[in-house]
Amino acid sequence: MTPALQSQTLLALCRQASVMPVLVIDELRHAEPLARALIAGGLPVLEVTLRTGCALEAIARIARVPGAHVGAGTVLSAHDAARVKAAGGTFAVSPGATPGLISACVAQGLPLLPGAATASEVMTLIEAGYRILKFFPAVPAGGIPMLSALRGPLPQADFVPTGGISEQTAPDWLRLQNVACVGGSWVAPAAMIRAEDWAGIETRARQAAALKRED
Ligand code: 3PG
Repeated sequence: MTPALQSQTLLALCRQASVMPVLVIDELRHAEPLARALIAGGLPVLEVTLRTGCALEAIARIARVPGAHVGAGTVLSAHDAARVKAAGGTFAVSPGATPGLISACVAQGLPLLPGAATASEVMTLIEAGYRILKFFPAVPAGGIPMLSALRGPLPQADFVPTGGISEQTAPDWLRLQNVACVGGSWVAPAAMIRAEDWAGIETRARQAAALKRED
């Protein structure tokens, strides 16, 4: 699957909702009720970070929840990409990109949302064929002024800014013309997952799902 086709898949996923929740799942039993709450609230495209021991099994379980589109975050290597594909993840998100990771995602047929934070990184990924990138870490890397400035010389790239975005700031990011959707953990914070507050997470998802991009 070429990088261009991978980007087409990711752009189609981003059109489904303006917010992609970033999920850190510590307990496997939380995976399904968490996914159901987010989908019920209108957010079907979910990123589960590979930072916990049960992340791959959580992805496998969420992949079986009706309506879910689940990908893996913090995918750093070819080995990670293979494990995500085997678990049933439908896309991969990385804080950056390496030639090895790109080759593995091409070989596995796993759509990659590669990370970039500078003009050279964006140019390198455009050269490889990608058209949608994760802008990471969004706020520390320069925030809205930086991403807005990148659009001048690099209008062909769309972004999913992630890292430091909140319910309050998400609308400002979504006003940028080169933002496809925003990512963030604020929709399902660790404390609410620990408390198994699925109704509360569904409410937050509904509020996030109501945010719209400027078209
Ligand atoms: C991450 O990698 O954890 C994401 O960028 C989420 O960042 P956030 O917790 O600031 O939303």
